[in-house]
Amino acid sequence: MMRTPIMAGNWKMHKTAREAVDFVTNLQKELGDWKETEAVVAPPFMALAPVAECLKGGTIALAAQNCFWEEQGAYTGEVSAPMLRDVGCRYVIIGHSERRAYFGETDETVNKKVKAVLSSGLQPIICVGESLEERERGDTVQIVERQVKEGLKGLDETAVPSIVIAYEPLWAIGTGKTATPEQAQEVHASIRGLLSSIFNPEGAQDIRIQYGGSVKPGNVDELMAQPDIDGALVGGASLDVESFARIVRFEKK
Ligand code: PGA
Repeated sequence: MMRTPIMAGNWKMHKTAREAVDFVTNLQKELGDWKETEAVVAPPFMALAPVAECLKGGTIALAAQNCFWEEQGAYTGEVSAPMLRDVGCRYVIIGHSERRAYFGETDETVNKKVKAVLSSGLQPIICVGESLEERERGDTVQIVERQVKEGLKGLDETAVPSIVIAYEPLWAIGTGKTATPEQAQEVHASIRGLLSSIFNPEGAQDIRIQYGGSVKPGNVDELMAQPDIDGALVGGASLDVESFARIVRFEKK
């Protein structure tokens, strides 16, 4: 199966609802009916409903940046996967390194959230990645494989078509330091190898693995030229229409 490249803009805690709507209005104008790549935007929670309204009938998909694993209940401040589905999301980013670092998320909570997302009929974008210290110690592959394995624990092959993995080395996020295409490819290949053993080789070929960490219009083409890089999770460069559109329409090498 061909893996359609997936470019997702993780806006983090940026843009008001009005700014978000203006942004996607302009992005839609810029991209027209572009379909070669799947474009996804992940605005903050309070902008999801108005942005969903704006995206209706178009080709850009909507993602949330997080969710809780219970469906409803006394969980002040949380939003559930069924609520996100109801508002029009297709994807939910799970276990972003900022959530792991500042909000106590662990492989175990990531796994619970992944299951909740899948059982609501949504698709998780599961984030993994090593710190600089772990890379320097030579532990990158081991760390990333543990995060993938634990994040996917208990899932079976029915999950394969829905899963997206995002490899984001922590030292490359927001730092302007991108992993070289070769460094990224090495980790992506090891993730794909692991996916073959978790699911099966055919399934592993179908799962899209994004790279994230200082992806910009100037480096996306080289990254996308690697055989196991199937898209990007973009922070900073996704906040500007022109630069995100250029990433969505990367040039094939
Ligand atoms: P960045 O963020 O593109 O600003 O490095 C990527 C991410 O955290 O998803």
